[in-house]
Amino acid sequence: MTSVDSIKKQFPFFSQTKNGKPWAFLDNAASCQKPESVLKKMDEVYRTTYANVHRGIYDMAENGTKLYEGVRELVANFLGARSVDEIIFTKNTTEAINLAAYSLSRRLKPGDEILLTEMEHHANLVPWQQAALRTGAKLKFIPLNDDFCLDLSGLHSLLGVKTKIVALSAMSNVLGTVNDLADLIKKAHAVGAVVLVDAAQAAAHLKLNVKDLDCDLLAFSGHKIYGPSGVGVLYGKAESLNNMPPFLTGGHMIADVWYDRATWNTIPAKFEAGTPPIVEVIGLGAAVKFINSVGWDFILNHEKELTRSGLKKLLSVDGLKLLGPKDASRRGPVFSFTLDGVHAHDVAGILNEYGVAVRAGHHCTAPLHKKYGIVATTRASCGIYNTTEDIDRLVVGLERARKMLD
Ligand code: ALA
Repeated sequence: MTSVDSIKKQFPFFSQTKNGKPWAFLDNAASCQKPESVLKKMDEVYRTTYANVHRGIYDMAENGTKLYEGVRELVANFLGARSVDEIIFTKNTTEAINLAAYSLSRRLKPGDEILLTEMEHHANLVPWQQAALRTGAKLKFIPLNDDFCLDLSGLHSLLGVKTKIVALSAMSNVLGTVNDLADLIKKAHAVGAVVLVDAAQAAAHLKLNVKDLDCDLLAFSGHKIYGPSGVGVLYGKAESLNNMPPFLTGGHMIADVWYDRATWNTIPAKFEAGTPPIVEVIGLGAAVKFINSVGWDFILNHEKELTRSGLKKLLSVDGLKLLGPKDASRRGPVFSFTLDGVHAHDVAGILNEYGVAVRAGHHCTAPLHKKYGIVATTRASCGIYNTTEDIDRLVVGLERARKMLD
Protein backbone atom coordinates (compact mmCIF):
# COMPACT_ATOMS: atom_id res chain seq x y z
CA MET A 1 0.00 0.00 0.00
CA THR A 2 1.21 3.52 -0.78
CA SER A 3 2.28 5.55 2.25
CA VAL A 4 3.93 8.96 2.58
CA ASP A 5 6.93 7.16 4.02
CA SER A 6 7.32 4.94 0.98
CA ILE A 7 6.95 8.01 -1.27
CA LYS A 8 9.51 10.07 0.65
CA LYS A 9 12.03 7.22 0.41
CA GLN A 10 11.93 7.61 -3.37
CA PHE A 11 13.35 11.16 -3.11
CA PRO A 12 17.14 11.18 -2.54
CA PHE A 13 16.91 14.83 -1.43
CA PHE A 14 15.40 13.79 1.90
CA SER A 15 18.50 11.90 2.99
CA GLN A 16 20.05 15.33 3.70
CA THR A 17 19.68 17.10 7.00
CA LYS A 18 19.90 20.67 8.24
CA ASN A 19 21.30 21.12 11.75
CA GLY A 20 20.77 17.40 12.35
CA LYS A 21 17.14 17.31 11.19
CA PRO A 22 15.62 16.20 7.90
CA TRP A 23 14.25 19.04 5.82
CA ALA A 24 10.60 20.00 6.00
CA PHE A 25 10.53 21.06 2.35
CA LEU A 26 7.55 23.41 2.02
CA ASP A 27 8.43 25.34 -1.15
CA ASN A 28 6.74 23.07 -3.65
CA ALA A 29 4.77 25.88 -5.26
CA ALA A 30 8.10 27.27 -6.44
CA SER A 31 9.52 23.87 -7.45
CA CYS A 32 9.41 20.26 -6.26
CA GLN A 33 12.10 17.72 -5.37
CA LYS A 34 12.70 14.87 -7.85
CA PRO A 35 12.20 11.13 -7.32
CA GLU A 36 14.98 8.64 -8.03
CA SER A 37 13.12 7.37 -11.11
CA VAL A 38 13.35 10.81 -12.79
CA LEU A 39 17.03 11.29 -11.90
CA LYS A 40 17.89 7.76 -12.99
CA LYS A 41 16.09 8.01 -16.31
CA MET A 42 17.78 11.29 -17.23
CA ASP A 43 21.19 10.01 -16.19
CA GLU A 44 20.66 6.78 -18.15
CA VAL A 45 19.72 8.66 -21.32
CA TYR A 46 22.76 10.94 -21.11
CA ARG A 47 25.05 7.96 -20.41
CA THR A 48 23.73 5.42 -22.87
CA THR A 49 21.45 6.66 -25.59
CA TYR A 50 21.85 10.41 -26.02
CA ALA A 51 21.50 11.99 -29.46
CA ASN A 52 19.41 14.72 -31.05
CA VAL A 53 15.81 13.77 -31.84
CA HIS A 54 13.85 13.82 -35.14
CA ARG A 55 17.08 13.93 -37.15
CA GLY A 56 19.46 10.94 -37.12
CA ILE A 57 18.88 7.39 -38.36
CA TYR A 58 21.40 5.66 -36.11
CA ASP A 59 20.42 3.68 -32.98
CA MET A 60 20.72 6.44 -30.37
CA ALA A 61 18.90 9.02 -32.48
CA GLU A 62 16.04 6.64 -33.19
CA ASN A 63 15.83 5.46 -29.60
CA GLY A 64 15.93 9.05 -28.31
CA THR A 65 13.14 10.06 -30.70
CA LYS A 66 11.05 7.10 -29.56
CA LEU A 67 11.54 8.01 -25.90
CA TYR A 68 10.81 11.69 -26.56
CA GLU A 69 7.66 10.99 -28.58
CA GLY A 70 6.57 8.38 -26.02
CA VAL A 71 6.35 11.17 -23.45
CA ARG A 72 3.89 13.01 -25.69
CA GLU A 73 1.59 10.00 -25.33
CA LEU A 74 2.10 9.87 -21.54
CA VAL A 75 1.29 13.58 -21.22
CA ALA A 76 -1.72 13.28 -23.55
CA ASN A 77 -3.09 10.54 -21.26
CA PHE A 78 -2.15 12.52 -18.13
CA LEU A 79 -4.31 15.41 -19.39
CA GLY A 80 -7.01 13.34 -21.07
CA ALA A 81 -6.20 14.90 -24.47
CA ARG A 82 -7.72 13.45 -27.65
CA SER A 83 -4.44 13.16 -29.53
CA VAL A 84 -0.66 13.29 -29.04
CA ASP A 85 -0.61 16.12 -31.60
CA GLU A 86 -2.29 18.33 -29.01
CA ILE A 87 0.78 18.25 -26.74
CA ILE A 88 3.49 20.87 -27.34
CA PHE A 89 6.72 20.78 -25.33
CA THR A 90 7.99 24.17 -24.23
CA LYS A 91 10.59 25.43 -21.77
CA ASN A 92 8.06 26.06 -18.96
CA THR A 93 4.57 27.43 -18.26
CA THR A 94 5.78 30.96 -18.97
CA GLU A 95 6.98 30.04 -22.44
CA ALA A 96 3.77 28.11 -23.11
CA ILE A 97 1.66 31.16 -22.20
CA ASN A 98 3.93 33.48 -24.19
CA LEU A 99 3.43 31.18 -27.18
CA ALA A 100 -0.35 31.35 -26.76
CA ALA A 101 -0.40 35.12 -26.12
CA TYR A 102 1.82 35.91 -29.10
CA SER A 103 0.03 33.60 -31.44
CA LEU A 104 -3.55 34.42 -30.39
CA SER A 105 -2.83 38.15 -30.31
CA ARG A 106 -2.22 38.11 -34.07
CA ARG A 107 -6.04 38.01 -34.34
CA LEU A 108 -6.76 40.80 -31.85
CA LYS A 109 -7.78 44.31 -32.83
CA PRO A 110 -8.27 47.54 -30.86
CA GLY A 111 -11.26 47.29 -28.55
CA ASP A 112 -11.09 43.50 -28.19
CA GLU A 113 -10.91 42.27 -24.61
CA ILE A 114 -8.79 39.74 -22.73
CA LEU A 115 -10.32 38.55 -19.47
CA LEU A 116 -8.00 37.47 -16.63
CA THR A 117 -8.47 37.22 -12.86
CA GLU A 118 -6.93 39.27 -10.07
CA MET A 119 -5.09 36.20 -8.74
CA GLU A 120 -2.88 35.50 -11.79
CA HIS A 121 0.86 35.18 -11.37
CA HIS A 122 3.15 37.16 -13.65
CA ALA A 123 3.40 34.27 -16.15
CA ASN A 124 -0.31 34.57 -16.90
CA LEU A 125 -0.42 38.36 -16.76
CA VAL A 126 2.62 39.99 -18.35
CA PRO A 127 2.34 38.10 -21.71
CA TRP A 128 -1.28 39.33 -21.99
CA GLN A 129 -0.25 42.89 -21.05
CA GLN A 130 2.21 42.76 -23.93
CA ALA A 131 -0.43 41.32 -26.28
CA ALA A 132 -2.77 44.17 -25.31
CA LEU A 133 -0.03 46.77 -25.87
CA ARG A 134 0.74 45.36 -29.33
CA THR A 135 -2.87 45.24 -30.48
CA GLY A 136 -4.86 47.88 -28.61
CA ALA A 137 -6.89 45.18 -26.86
CA LYS A 138 -8.02 45.81 -23.28
CA LEU A 139 -7.35 43.71 -20.19
CA LYS A 140 -10.21 43.03 -17.79
CA PHE A 141 -10.06 41.22 -14.46
CA ILE A 142 -12.46 39.01 -12.52
CA PRO A 143 -12.20 40.37 -8.95
CA LEU A 144 -11.87 38.35 -5.74
CA ASN A 145 -14.35 38.16 -2.89
CA ASP A 146 -13.59 38.43 0.84
CA ASP A 147 -12.72 34.72 1.01
CA PHE A 148 -10.11 35.03 -1.76
CA CYS A 149 -12.25 33.20 -4.34
CA LEU A 150 -13.39 34.55 -7.71
CA ASP A 151 -16.31 36.96 -7.37
CA LEU A 152 -18.44 35.97 -10.34
CA SER A 153 -21.38 38.23 -9.46
CA GLY A 154 -20.35 40.75 -12.14
CA LEU A 155 -19.29 38.21 -14.76
CA HIS A 156 -22.11 39.20 -17.12
CA SER A 157 -20.59 42.68 -17.46
CA LEU A 158 -17.01 41.41 -17.83
CA LEU A 159 -17.65 38.70 -20.40
CA GLY A 160 -19.26 39.68 -23.70
CA VAL A 161 -18.89 39.72 -27.47
CA LYS A 162 -15.72 41.81 -27.18
CA THR A 163 -14.04 39.11 -25.04
CA LYS A 164 -11.72 37.19 -27.36
CA ILE A 165 -9.50 35.45 -24.81
CA VAL A 166 -10.08 34.25 -21.25
CA ALA A 167 -6.91 33.15 -19.42
CA LEU A 168 -7.14 31.99 -15.85
CA SER A 169 -5.45 29.89 -13.25
CA ALA A 170 -6.84 26.53 -12.13
CA MET A 171 -5.26 27.03 -8.71
CA SER A 172 -3.58 30.09 -7.23
CA ASN A 173 0.12 29.74 -6.37
CA VAL A 174 -0.38 32.20 -3.50
CA LEU A 175 -3.93 31.91 -2.20
CA GLY A 176 -4.27 28.18 -2.78
CA THR A 177 -7.75 28.89 -4.19
CA VAL A 178 -9.00 26.21 -6.58
CA ASN A 179 -11.15 27.78 -9.27
CA ASP A 180 -14.32 26.17 -10.49
CA LEU A 181 -13.53 26.37 -14.20
CA ALA A 182 -16.04 24.26 -16.10
CA ASP A 183 -18.97 26.69 -15.88
CA LEU A 184 -16.76 29.71 -16.59
CA ILE A 185 -15.34 27.99 -19.67
CA LYS A 186 -18.85 27.23 -20.91
CA LYS A 187 -19.82 30.87 -20.51
CA ALA A 188 -16.62 32.05 -22.24
CA HIS A 189 -17.29 29.75 -25.18
CA ALA A 190 -20.87 31.04 -25.40
CA VAL A 191 -19.47 34.49 -26.31
CA GLY A 192 -16.90 32.97 -28.68
CA ALA A 193 -13.79 33.44 -26.50
CA VAL A 194 -10.76 31.15 -26.54
CA VAL A 195 -9.93 29.85 -23.05
CA LEU A 196 -6.46 29.17 -21.69
CA VAL A 197 -6.06 27.45 -18.33
CA ASP A 198 -2.84 28.10 -16.39
CA ALA A 199 -2.31 24.80 -14.59
CA ALA A 200 1.23 25.56 -13.35
CA GLN A 201 0.10 25.20 -9.77
CA ALA A 202 -2.77 22.77 -10.26
CA ALA A 203 -1.05 20.03 -12.24
CA ALA A 204 0.53 18.38 -9.17
CA HIS A 205 -2.57 18.73 -6.99
CA LEU A 206 -5.64 18.15 -9.18
CA LYS A 207 -6.48 15.45 -11.65
CA LEU A 208 -6.86 17.48 -14.83
CA ASN A 209 -8.97 16.43 -17.77
CA VAL A 210 -8.94 18.79 -20.73
CA LYS A 211 -11.90 17.03 -22.37
CA ASP A 212 -14.09 17.52 -19.28
CA LEU A 213 -12.87 21.09 -18.79
CA ASP A 214 -13.28 21.77 -22.51
CA CYS A 215 -10.53 24.42 -22.36
CA ASP A 216 -8.88 25.36 -25.65
CA LEU A 217 -5.37 25.62 -24.22
CA LEU A 218 -3.70 24.59 -20.96
CA ALA A 219 -0.17 25.14 -19.70
CA PHE A 220 1.95 23.55 -16.97
CA SER A 221 5.61 23.02 -16.02
CA GLY A 222 7.60 19.81 -15.48
CA HIS A 223 9.45 21.04 -12.38
CA LYS A 224 6.25 21.54 -10.38
CA ILE A 225 5.15 17.94 -10.94
CA TYR A 226 8.37 16.33 -9.64
CA GLY A 227 10.03 16.46 -13.06
CA PRO A 228 13.03 18.48 -14.24
CA SER A 229 13.14 22.21 -14.83
CA GLY A 230 13.55 23.38 -18.42
CA VAL A 231 10.45 21.65 -19.76
CA GLY A 232 6.81 22.68 -19.87
CA VAL A 233 3.70 21.72 -21.79
CA LEU A 234 1.15 23.60 -23.81
CA TYR A 235 -1.94 21.51 -24.50
CA GLY A 236 -4.15 22.83 -27.27
CA LYS A 237 -7.22 21.47 -29.02
CA ALA A 238 -6.03 20.43 -32.46
CA GLU A 239 -8.42 22.89 -34.14
CA SER A 240 -7.07 25.76 -31.99
CA LEU A 241 -3.42 24.90 -32.62
CA ASN A 242 -4.03 24.45 -36.34
CA ASN A 243 -5.42 27.98 -36.47
CA MET A 244 -2.56 29.57 -34.53
CA PRO A 245 0.54 30.93 -36.27
CA PRO A 246 3.89 29.69 -34.90
CA PHE A 247 5.68 31.51 -32.11
CA LEU A 248 9.37 30.53 -32.34
CA THR A 249 10.67 29.81 -35.83
CA GLY A 250 13.66 27.82 -37.10
CA GLY A 251 14.50 24.16 -37.57
CA HIS A 252 11.98 21.29 -37.28
CA MET A 253 8.92 23.61 -37.27
CA ILE A 254 9.14 24.06 -41.04
CA ALA A 255 7.68 22.02 -43.91
CA ASP A 256 9.97 23.61 -46.53
CA VAL A 257 12.31 26.59 -46.68
CA TRP A 258 13.57 28.82 -49.49
CA TYR A 259 15.96 31.76 -49.16
CA ASP A 260 13.06 34.19 -48.95
CA ARG A 261 10.29 32.22 -47.21
CA ALA A 262 9.21 29.07 -45.41
CA THR A 263 6.12 26.95 -44.88
CA TRP A 264 5.14 25.39 -41.58
CA ASN A 265 5.14 21.81 -40.40
CA THR A 266 1.95 20.32 -38.96
CA ILE A 267 1.25 20.28 -35.19
CA PRO A 268 2.91 19.59 -32.83
CA ALA A 269 6.19 20.22 -34.74
CA LYS A 270 4.94 23.67 -35.85
CA PHE A 271 5.41 24.88 -32.26
CA GLU A 272 8.67 23.09 -31.42
CA ALA A 273 11.42 25.05 -33.17
CA GLY A 274 15.03 23.96 -32.79
CA THR A 275 16.53 21.23 -30.65
CA PRO A 276 14.01 20.65 -27.86
CA PRO A 277 14.79 19.98 -24.18
CA ILE A 278 15.29 16.29 -25.06
CA VAL A 279 16.40 14.79 -21.76
CA GLU A 280 14.12 17.10 -19.77
CA VAL A 281 11.12 15.87 -21.78
CA ILE A 282 12.15 12.27 -21.07
CA GLY A 283 12.53 13.21 -17.38
CA LEU A 284 9.03 14.71 -17.49
CA GLY A 285 7.78 11.35 -18.77
CA ALA A 286 9.36 9.64 -15.75
CA ALA A 287 7.65 12.20 -13.48
CA VAL A 288 4.26 11.47 -15.05
CA LYS A 289 4.88 7.74 -14.54
CA PHE A 290 5.81 8.46 -10.91
CA ILE A 291 2.54 10.35 -10.35
CA ASN A 292 0.61 7.55 -12.04
CA SER A 293 2.30 5.01 -9.79
CA VAL A 294 1.28 6.93 -6.66
CA GLY A 295 -2.23 7.39 -8.02
CA TRP A 296 -4.64 10.29 -7.80
CA ASP A 297 -6.75 8.72 -5.03
CA PHE A 298 -3.75 8.82 -2.73
CA ILE A 299 -2.63 12.31 -3.81
CA LEU A 300 -6.09 13.86 -3.42
CA ASN A 301 -6.76 12.26 -0.03
CA HIS A 302 -3.32 12.98 1.36
CA GLU A 303 -3.34 16.60 0.21
CA LYS A 304 -6.87 17.13 1.54
CA GLU A 305 -5.54 16.06 4.93
CA LEU A 306 -2.55 18.43 4.61
CA THR A 307 -4.91 21.26 3.64
CA ARG A 308 -7.19 20.68 6.64
CA SER A 309 -4.30 20.27 9.05
CA GLY A 310 -2.43 23.30 7.65
CA LEU A 311 -5.49 25.53 7.92
CA LYS A 312 -6.28 24.45 11.46
CA LYS A 313 -2.73 24.77 12.78
CA LEU A 314 -1.77 27.99 11.00
CA LEU A 315 -4.99 29.77 11.93
CA SER A 316 -4.19 29.07 15.58
CA VAL A 317 -0.82 30.91 15.39
CA ASP A 318 -1.00 34.26 17.19
CA GLY A 319 -0.69 37.24 14.85
CA LEU A 320 -0.84 35.13 11.65
CA LYS A 321 -3.02 36.45 8.83
CA LEU A 322 -3.71 33.95 6.10
CA LEU A 323 -4.05 35.20 2.51
CA GLY A 324 -6.41 32.58 1.12
CA PRO A 325 -9.71 30.75 1.68
CA LYS A 326 -10.40 29.40 5.16
CA ASP A 327 -12.70 26.79 3.69
CA ALA A 328 -10.63 23.65 2.95
CA SER A 329 -13.00 22.58 0.17
CA ARG A 330 -12.12 25.69 -1.88
CA ARG A 331 -8.36 25.34 -1.78
CA GLY A 332 -5.20 23.27 -1.94
CA PRO A 333 -2.26 22.97 0.50
CA VAL A 334 -0.56 26.31 -0.29
CA PHE A 335 -0.51 28.77 2.61
CA SER A 336 0.63 32.39 2.26
CA PHE A 337 0.52 34.56 5.34
CA THR A 338 1.87 37.52 7.24
CA LEU A 339 3.02 37.37 10.84
CA ASP A 340 2.45 40.52 12.90
CA GLY A 341 5.65 42.37 13.66
CA VAL A 342 7.94 40.08 11.63
CA HIS A 343 8.99 40.63 8.01
CA ALA A 344 8.35 37.69 5.68
CA HIS A 345 12.04 37.41 4.78
CA ASP A 346 13.01 37.22 8.46
CA VAL A 347 10.38 34.52 8.99
CA ALA A 348 11.81 32.49 6.10
CA GLY A 349 15.39 33.01 7.37
CA ILE A 350 14.53 31.78 10.85
CA LEU A 351 12.57 28.81 9.51
CA ASN A 352 15.59 27.89 7.40
CA GLU A 353 17.65 27.52 10.57
CA TYR A 354 15.10 24.93 11.76
CA GLY A 355 15.25 23.05 8.48
CA VAL A 356 11.91 24.37 7.20
CA ALA A 357 12.12 25.61 3.60
CA VAL A 358 9.51 28.21 2.58
CA ARG A 359 9.42 31.09 0.12
CA ALA A 360 9.09 34.75 1.12
CA GLY A 361 8.25 37.62 -1.23
CA HIS A 362 5.46 38.32 -3.67
CA HIS A 363 5.67 34.88 -5.32
CA CYS A 364 5.48 36.36 -8.83
CA THR A 365 2.16 38.03 -7.99
CA ALA A 366 3.14 41.64 -7.26
CA PRO A 367 -0.29 43.08 -8.28
CA LEU A 368 -2.14 40.65 -5.97
CA HIS A 369 0.08 41.65 -3.03
CA LYS A 370 -0.37 45.35 -3.91
CA LYS A 371 -4.16 44.83 -3.97
CA TYR A 372 -4.00 43.74 -0.32
CA GLY A 373 -1.44 46.42 0.61
CA ILE A 374 1.19 43.82 1.48
CA VAL A 375 4.81 43.95 0.32
CA ALA A 376 5.60 40.29 0.99
CA THR A 377 4.11 37.13 2.45
CA THR A 378 5.68 33.93 3.69
CA ARG A 379 4.44 30.92 1.76
CA ALA A 380 4.46 27.28 2.85
CA SER A 381 3.41 24.97 0.03
CA CYS A 382 3.04 21.21 0.31
CA GLY A 383 3.77 18.38 -2.05
CA ILE A 384 3.19 14.66 -2.19
CA TYR A 385 5.94 13.88 0.38
CA ASN A 386 4.93 16.35 3.10
CA THR A 387 3.45 15.23 6.38
CA THR A 388 1.42 16.90 9.11
CA GLU A 389 4.68 16.80 11.15
CA ASP A 390 6.21 19.17 8.58
CA ILE A 391 3.35 21.57 9.31
CA ASP A 392 3.93 21.14 13.06
CA ARG A 393 7.59 22.08 12.56
CA LEU A 394 6.50 25.12 10.56
CA VAL A 395 4.18 26.21 13.36
CA VAL A 396 6.88 25.75 16.04
CA GLY A 397 9.30 27.77 13.87
CA LEU A 398 6.73 30.56 13.45
CA GLU A 399 6.17 30.76 17.18
CA ARG A 400 9.92 31.00 17.74
CA ALA A 401 10.19 33.71 15.05
CA ARG A 402 7.53 35.77 16.82
CA LYS A 403 9.26 35.42 20.17
CA MET A 404 12.62 36.38 18.67
CA LEU A 405 11.55 39.34 16.57
CA ASP A 406 8.24 40.74 17.79
N1 ALA B 1 5.62 30.89 -9.85
C1 ALA B 1 6.51 30.20 -8.96
C2 ALA B 1 6.14 30.38 -7.51
O1 ALA B 1 4.98 30.44 -7.24
C3 ALA B 1 7.93 30.33 -9.26
O2 ALA B 1 6.99 30.42 -6.65
